Amino acid sequence: MTRRVEGKVALVTGGASRPGLGSAIALRLAEEGAHVILSDVDLAGAEQTAAKITALNLDAKAVYQDVSLQEDWDRVIADITNTHGRLDILVNNAGILDVGEIDDDGAVAGLKRQLSVNVEGVFMGTQAAVKAMRAASTAGSIVNISSIAGLVGFKASASYAATKGAVKMMTKSVALETAAEGIRVNSVHPGIIRTNMAAAGLDDNAENYAAIEEVIPMHRLGEPEDIANCVLFLASDEARYVTGAEFVVDGGYTTQ
Ligand SMILES: NC(=O)c1ccc[n+]([C@@H]2O[C@H](COP(=O)([O-])OP(=O)(O)OC[C@H]3O[C@@H](n4cnc5c(N)ncnc54)[C@H](O)[C@@H]3O)[C@@H](O)[C@H]2O)c1
Repeated sequence: MTRRVEGKVALVTGGASRPGLGSAIALRLAEEGAHVILSDVDLAGAEQTAAKITALNLDAKAVYQDVSLQEDWDRVIADITNTHGRLDILVNNAGILDVGEIDDDGAVAGLKRQLSVNVEGVFMGTQAAVKAMRAASTAGSIVNISSIAGLVGFKASASYAATKGAVKMMTKSVALETAAEGIRVNSVHPGIIRTNMAAAGLDDNAENYAAIEEVIPMHRLGEPEDIANCVLFLASDEARYVTGAEFVVDGGYTTQ
């Protein structure tokens, strides 16, 4: 049976963290036949993720990239298109979370930090991918990782929520610009998923985990693979008629 993204060239940002969404997405795409490039500011971590994937006889390569820098996007995308001739899939996954109330002393600085990675990074990445896909006439797929915080309110998360709402809306607008060329752009909205980011957000505290599991209708945190499976679908040709859509993967949290 043909694998679901056989031969496609995929860039996944933020691939170092384990457990993390980027590493799980990179593995799932590679398992289904993609040539995966995973980038991160943590190059050693990204190289370890790539080594775990290549140890399974799958294709993965790590590169250094700070998604908030235009020159890093220019370099990484140029390297990929020079090597492979095209880019089929971009997963804008790298992101940061600053927890804090609106009147905290560093709230505005935190907002600016998150805007540069979560919004400017996704914007520049989407622009770079659209240009590369157009140049090679590729009907590619761009998957932007937003959050349920981009859909509903959360206490102590106003700045993070502002960035994730921005990702949702830029996704829909770009999808309209590129739909006629077959370039699809969708957002994924994870609930609370068991990664290093969630552990930091919950202070790695058992009581905090129990409290959050209580309010999730499925009574468990999501696993990174739960998000990776959704991204795989959107990245594949199975989703050829899906664009500008928001995919919620949250165990029912936002349906309440
Ligand atoms: N885990 C969750 O519960 C959850 C829920 C909703 C949305 N998300 C989103 O999913 C994405 C991945 O989250 P995660 O839980 O795997 O987080 P994580 O913190 O475990 O991993 C994020 C990775 O991004 C990298 N990164 C940070 N800044 C970067 C930059 N400027 N350039 C390149 N890489 C950078 C980090 O080094 C890290 O490897 C994020 O966008 C996050 O906001 C996560």
